[in-house]
Amino acid sequence: MYLLKWVIGLALLCTAYASDPLIVEIANGKLLGKDNGHYYSYESIPYAEPPIGELRFEAPQPYSNQWIDIFDATNPPAVCMQWNQFTAEKLQGVEDCLTVSIYKPKDHNRDSFPVVAQIPGGGFMSGGAAVNGHEFLMREGNLLVVKINYRVGPLGFASTGDIDLPGNYGLKDQRLALQWIKQNIENFGGMPENIVVVGHSAGGASTHLQLLHEDFSQLARAAVSMSGNALNPWIIHRDHRRKAFELGRIVGCGQLKDSAELKNCLKSKPAREIVSAVQSFLIFAYVPFAPFGPVLEPEDAPDAFLTQDPAEVIKSGKFAHVPWTVTHTSEDGGFNAAQLLERNQTTGQTLIDILNDRWFDWAPYFLFYLDSKRTVDEMDEFSSELRQQYLGDRRFSEESYWDVQRMFTDILFKNGVKASVELHRKYGQSPVYSMVYNNPAVNGVAQVLSNRTDLFFGAVHGDDFFLIFDIGALRPVIRPDEEVISKTYIKMLEDFALGDNGSPTFGQCILQNNANSEQYQVLRITQNGCTNEQYDQFP
Ligand SMILES: *[C@@H]1O[C@H](CO)[C@@H](O)[C@H](O)[C@H]1NC(C)=O
Ligand SMILES: *[C@@H]1O[C@H](CO)[C@@H](O)[C@H](O)[C@H]1NC(C)=O
Repeated sequence: MYLLKWVIGLALLCTAYASDPLIVEIANGKLLGKDNGHYYSYESIPYAEPPIGELRFEAPQPYSNQWIDIFDATNPPAVCMQWNQFTAEKLQGVEDCLTVSIYKPKDHNRDSFPVVAQIPGGGFMSGGAAVNGHEFLMREGNLLVVKINYRVGPLGFASTGDIDLPGNYGLKDQRLALQWIKQNIENFGGMPENIVVVGHSAGGASTHLQLLHEDFSQLARAAVSMSGNALNPWIIHRDHRRKAFELGRIVGCGQLKDSAELKNCLKSKPAREIVSAVQSFLIFAYVPFAPFGPVLEPEDAPDAFLTQDPAEVIKSGKFAHVPWTVTHTSEDGGFNAAQLLERNQTTGQTLIDILNDRWFDWAPYFLFYLDSKRTVDEMDEFSSELRQQYLGDRRFSEESYWDVQRMFTDILFKNGVKASVELHRKYGQSPVYSMVYNNPAVNGVAQVLSNRTDLFFGAVHGDDFFLIFDIGALRPVIRPDEEVISKTYIKMLEDFALGDNGSPTFGQCILQNNANSEQYQVLRITQNGCTNEQYDQFP
């Protein structure tokens, strides 16, 4: 009798335990998440061995530890160590940072959800899972969210361009994280066959670069690159070898010539010294905004991620033929043109006035043509042409700012959208969708960069994305029309993840496929809703 009671008691305990949504079991053991009222979270779960010691500047190794105790997945993710120009404390984060964080809605009527896997942006230099809020997505309650941490800055991207220090560690991290998600997400209530990968800015370009691998089609059903794609000029770096040795010199490795020696020396230095060296690669403020980033690796590099120009990869047709959406905002270039309008608190002067004297020095850093193989004369000529094309004979000033911002938008974001739509529709066998967002936020990146509220900037970088992944303090409230757009975007992501009812929709608009289309198909989003537009020339 006594024994029977004990057996029943144990059975009940086991059932309660097995159905406890806070405990999840994966190959490494059990982990404990957190109840946040309307959703559960499982944060800072390692997907790779810590990239420290001998593993610094190496491709990530899958996480293999077996947990003896229950792993505590209730700690918010720390960012990967970074030099962040946008925060008071510029040196931030930890080197041991390769984790995913998972957020699952509560819904008593269902226990599995389509998945949105998010690759954070930040110019390959900063950012991380912690910076991208999930409140809007959890409020809608239809998608399970996974946010990926990956190495950034020199720790993620330093490269000598040879097999000793090939680079692209951050992109290799993302890829391993996507594989982890595919393998494990079912245990958390995610649908492994219904994953959409989304990124903004460097996250958008990363998403595109991930899609340029054929086996990405096994990892995700669709991908969305917002305001950042692989054909933007700030993605592929060309001057990385010189920078890697310069990095070594700054942290006290001396004037080395050999890549293997450099790597050994860099492995022996404190991470904070390597990351703090970033400030030596900026000419002022945070210009250029991406001094380190993706590179082309030699064919024989171990674990190579990218050995060919992205445009060449697309032309080869060897990429994942899954639906891809590429977007920009009408005034994306407000990042980072708006900083030209910040007033010096002492002199009242703005950088845009100074630009009249410094255009030839600064333009290649602002617009990322320094790394190309051009001579100084060729670069000067290009700078001159750009100025003529966008400003004519006018001076750089507050009055001509909108044309400067238009130049930044075209060069840094929009031309890459045009180029990639063109190539994907020609060489791809899957839908390519293009969207442009024009609904300015009251307080966006441009207001922050310029520290001014007396000017109108239009819809700049992030005005759309921050309606999906909120940015907390910068935009604590959104307008009613933005609420509607937020919900519509999230519904569109769900369509992409499910991918089962033909064309995805944005509100009352059905997205139009650019593949096999003579004209450019563009979905335009404004305060009043959406419109489908067709163009002979990219608008
Ligand atoms: C403002 O101008 C003064 C005088 O030219 C200069 O010393 C100072 O560094 C400037 N401040 C900023 C934030 O650029
Ligand atoms: C922003 O501008 C205000 C005045 O409008 C000034 O008091 C403040 O110091 C400025 N902030 C920065 C970071 O320059």
